[in-house]
Amino acid sequence: MIQTPYYLIDKSKLLRNMEKIATLRELSGAKALLALKCFAAWGVFDFMRDYMDGTTSSSLNEVRLGHERFGKETHAYSVAYADYEIDEVISYADKIIFNSVGQLTRYADKASGITRGLRLNPGVSSSSFDLADPARPFSRLGEWDVKTVEPVMDLVSGFMIHNNCENGDFDLFDRMLGEIETKFAPLLRKAEWVSLGGGIHFTGEEYPLEKFAERLKRFSGEYGVQVYLEPGEASITKSTTLEVSVLDTLYNGKKLAIVDSSVEAHMLDLLIYRESAKMSPNEGPHRIMICGKSCLAGDIFGEFNFDHDLQVGDRISIQDAAGYTMVKKNWFNGVQMPSIAIRELDGSIRTVREFDYTDYEHSLS
Ligand SMILES: Cc1ncc(COP(=O)(O)O)c(C=O)c1O
Repeated sequence: MIQTPYYLIDKSKLLRNMEKIATLRELSGAKALLALKCFAAWGVFDFMRDYMDGTTSSSLNEVRLGHERFGKETHAYSVAYADYEIDEVISYADKIIFNSVGQLTRYADKASGITRGLRLNPGVSSSSFDLADPARPFSRLGEWDVKTVEPVMDLVSGFMIHNNCENGDFDLFDRMLGEIETKFAPLLRKAEWVSLGGGIHFTGEEYPLEKFAERLKRFSGEYGVQVYLEPGEASITKSTTLEVSVLDTLYNGKKLAIVDSSVEAHMLDLLIYRESAKMSPNEGPHRIMICGKSCLAGDIFGEFNFDHDLQVGDRISIQDAAGYTMVKKNWFNGVQMPSIAIRELDGSIRTVREFDYTDYEHSLS
């Protein structure tokens, strides 16, 4: 038995998403790039590579990882590049997307040997969180005004528009794409490619994949553009668990169980967005609050139902632990970093990464 805590990436679950991505690519002609900001556990890149066209990135480190570990098409994007990193970014990328006209004009010459693009902000999004809303008031994420972009059109051949957030509603996607077309049609007609970013939950069970593919194909035909998608969460959703063990139990008006992990250190997004973890199964007469072991009072995974009273040593699987988790894990409180394990298609499990005191020590100086 592998020592907890560990993230367990299950290839057979990952395969379900990969097959949907492959189907979408085939039906729509769109290309799909893995968004490394969401998931960068490169131990499964060999597996994912057959189903996707490459990666997109948000920094020098990510673009390098995409180039070195995934290969195929490597898109570079960042909210802002620095002078000291731009040459290296360009050396790894085959396409670079600038966030603003300012960055584009600053680095256009340096990047003239690769494909150049610009991020557009349509001012509409599907986000229910202000924090994650790219179209929030005064958003710095992309250019809003056609008049600002038109004068630099000869420097770019395409655009990236990321305005979907956890959007599982095809009609909403369709409506927003319509608004994008209305707003940016003069620019889109001059483009060769358009990336519609991530945030579209098209690998979900109920999602109308054929309608989505048809809409992308129509968009591509209307403007004569190669469409790209940048699925992060959709690529890895429901593929991974965080495996933990109960270290202690208490009763403080509610039943509590403390586990050998921490929301703040190992599933930080739950804390940022004030969401509960997911547990499966979540049935039974024993309602117990699952708590992390860091000193943060609110380090709580959530309250769940169990078929038995939890005991010290019991193991629990926290669901859906791939996206924005491993990429954000940290050494808060020096809590033991979860290992990373992979369940192969034949059911065998191998540990691909373990962390120890040296990693903690080397994260600081
Ligand atoms: C530009 C861009 N592309 C892709 C993504 C991936 O989004 P998701 O993981 O929701 O699919 C994001 C997420 O913030 C993004 O900002």
